Amino acid sequence: MKTIIKKLDRTKLEQDESKAIIAQAGRILREGGLVAFPTETVYGLGADGLNEAAAGKIYAAKGRPSDNPLIIHIASMEALGRIAVEIPEAAVTVAQKYWPGPLTMIFQKTDEVPYGTTGGLETVAVRMPCDKTAQAVILAGGGYIAAPSANTSGRPSPTKAEHVKEDLEGRIDMIVDGGAAGIGVESTILDMTVTPPMILRPGAITREMLRELIGDVSVDQTLITSDSSKPPKAPGMKYRHYAPKAELTIVEGGLLDVISAINQITGEKSGAGYRVGIIGTDETIDKYRGGIIKSIGTRQDEDTIASHLYEILREFDSEEVDYIFSESFPAGGIGSAVMNRLLKAAGHHVIEARPHVAEVK
Ligand code: TXA
Ligand code: MG
Repeated sequence: MKTIIKKLDRTKLEQDESKAIIAQAGRILREGGLVAFPTETVYGLGADGLNEAAAGKIYAAKGRPSDNPLIIHIASMEALGRIAVEIPEAAVTVAQKYWPGPLTMIFQKTDEVPYGTTGGLETVAVRMPCDKTAQAVILAGGGYIAAPSANTSGRPSPTKAEHVKEDLEGRIDMIVDGGAAGIGVESTILDMTVTPPMILRPGAITREMLRELIGDVSVDQTLITSDSSKPPKAPGMKYRHYAPKAELTIVEGGLLDVISAINQITGEKSGAGYRVGIIGTDETIDKYRGGIIKSIGTRQDEDTIASHLYEILREFDSEEVDYIFSESFPAGGIGSAVMNRLLKAAGHHVIEARPHVAEVK
């Protein structure tokens, strides 16, 4: 299959050129094809979510396990009633504040939603993205676009069209290249079928933000512990997603201790002939003495860290490093989403840097 790749300027969607690209994407989706498109979180791989055969193609293209349900993307509140029932008052409150935006909510599904889209579940995940290109593609494609992240299963999610091309060129009909996705980590998933509502995946809309709005909000405990005896409630969270090829280790502790621990291990590994990657920050990269050093962003602005996370993991993949050592980041705000993805990428491999004790002579 030849993949059509079309670039558009997301700030100029009203131009004829952009409109033609959106219309082409819409035609392909309505005919049951696959189109990757940017959203404010990561790139999505879209198909008509009400067409079981079309949704099935997503699983084949990504190599995705068939029990892992898809999120249906809508572009208006009116669209919700056709796919979801028993919508609680709290969901309406949350939607009024955070839709469109980086938030997915889970509801009981209607008969219109095929089990091929929900992985056999009676519930459906719904998101209304705020990215204008995403909204235009959803509308052009019929209004109900099932879209997982547009990566091969097991690889880091794509935040740029080039990442989608790397993974899926030749396997999908079209890529709409709208430049970099802004946030860089996937949407928060909030299960509205339980009381209190439960976060199944942390994202840019945080537990604190939701609590402020609707009161009690719980968090799937399997996200917090690395105890794997219980499966997470979002089927996709059980897979070792976002996995870089190299062995990734997160180093925790005071920042100076972390830096000296990473320097020490890097020295040992490099000495033994291995290629080592280091994930540092603008504030720390000049303190590393060896290895391939990359800054993930600045500690002054956690959003910059979220937006570069997957890209940096992909870069280390292509540089074929054997080991990656990463600093860890504070868990407040979007930091919980960053640490959740980083811990998964590392298979929960964390070491604690020992406090550096100055030697008394
Ligand atoms: O930001 C995002 O949400 C991106 C963009 C493209 O919108 N999409 C995304 O989709 O991250 P995906 O398929 O990579 O992740 C969807 C997650 C999976 O972990 C899946 O198991 C969970 O949502 N999920 C979907 N439907 C569900 C349901 N009915 N119940 C529980 N979990 C569900
Ligand atoms: Mg994904």
